[in-house]
Amino acid sequence: MNADQPLLAVESLSVRFKLPQGWVTAVDNVGFAIRPGEVVGIVGESGSGKSQILLSVMGLLASNGKSSGSVRFRGTELLNRPVAELDHIRGSAMSMIFQDPMTSLNPYMRVSQQLTEVLTVHQGMSEATALKTATDMLERVRIPDAKRRIGLFPHEFSGGMRQRVMIAMALLCKPALLLADEPTTALDVTVQAQILELMAELGRDLGTAIAIVTHDLGVIARLCDRVVVLYGGRIMEEGLVDDIFHDTRHPYTAGLVAATPRLDAATHGELLTIPGQPRAAMGDLPGCPFAPRCALKTEICHQTPPLKSGQAGHRLACHNRQVRGGEVRA
Ligand SMILES: Nc1ncnc2c1ncn2[C@@H]1O[C@H](COP(=O)(O)OP(=O)(O)O)[C@@H](O)[C@H]1O
Ligand SMILES: [Mg+2]
Repeated sequence: MNADQPLLAVESLSVRFKLPQGWVTAVDNVGFAIRPGEVVGIVGESGSGKSQILLSVMGLLASNGKSSGSVRFRGTELLNRPVAELDHIRGSAMSMIFQDPMTSLNPYMRVSQQLTEVLTVHQGMSEATALKTATDMLERVRIPDAKRRIGLFPHEFSGGMRQRVMIAMALLCKPALLLADEPTTALDVTVQAQILELMAELGRDLGTAIAIVTHDLGVIARLCDRVVVLYGGRIMEEGLVDDIFHDTRHPYTAGLVAATPRLDAATHGELLTIPGQPRAAMGDLPGCPFAPRCALKTEICHQTPPLKSGQAGHRLACHNRQVRGGEVRA
C-alpha cells in the first residue's frame, strides 16, 4: 500500500431514505479521508447524518436507505458491494462499535464464545489459542478477573464493562480501522472518559485508525487529530483539532465550541446552547442549512456555500468566513 494512500476515502457520499411521502436526503455529498493510524472525529448535533455515514461505510444502511458516491478502503470500492464480499473486510480489517453494546453482543452466548468465534472464523486460530488471545484482550481493556469473567453472559457485566467487552471484540483482529458510533453516550461521564481514553490508547498500540462519531466536542478535543463538523447532512468545516478549537472559523463550529463544557471555565456547570432547533437533514434545498440559526447570515446564504480548501487540510463551507491561510485550489 502506498504510504500516502488514505486507508479510507469517502467521496461524494449521499444517503437517501425512501419514506411514504418521497425520498429524504440524510447525507449530502460528503467527502473525507482517514489515513492509517489517524484518529478522526465526526461531530454534529443529533440528526446531522453521522451514524448514516458510518453505516454506509460498513454496508449496514436500513433497507429503505440508498447510498451513492464512493467509499474506498485501501483503494477497494465498498459501496453497494454484495454482503459476502463485505463480510471478508468487516470484522477483520475494519470493525465498528455501537452506542449500545447489546447491538453487537448476543445475549444468549457466553462472552468467551463470542470473542473466540471472531478469531477462529477470521484468523483460523485453534480454540485454545483463541481463548488465550481473547482473555489477554479482556485484560488489556482492564476487565478485572478476566479469566473467570470471560465465561459469563453479557448481562452479567455492568454497562461500562460490557462496553469494554465490545472494544475488546472490535480490536481482537487488530483492524486497520475502527468505526465508533457514540460508543459511550449511554454511560456516566467519568466512565465515558476512561473508556474512550482506553480505546484511543489501544488503537495507538495496535496502529488502528479510529473514526469516532460524537455530538460532544470535548471528546474530540481529548482524543482526535482531526475533526469533521457536520450539519444537516453536510460538511461545514474540517481541520486539525487544535486549529478548530483555537481558530474557529464556521459559526456553527463556534456554537459547538461555546457549548462544550470546560473544567477551567467560569461558566462551569452552565451549558451554552446554540439558539434554534437543529435541522433534520433534508438535502436538495439550496442555501446553507445552518443559515436559519446563524448570527452571520446575509443575503448570499440563500445560495449553497462551496466547501473551500485552505492550509493544513482546513475546509470550510461558509460564505462569510475565510479558510485558514487563504484558499488552495485543488
Ligand atoms: N431508516 C430511516 N428512514 C428514514 N430516515 C432515516 C432513517 N434512518 C435515519 N434517518 C434520518 O437520517 C438523518 C440522519 O440520521 P443519523 O445519521 O442517525 O443522525 P446522527 O447524526 O444523530 O447519527 C435523520 O434525519 C434521521 O431521521
Ligand atoms: Mg447517531
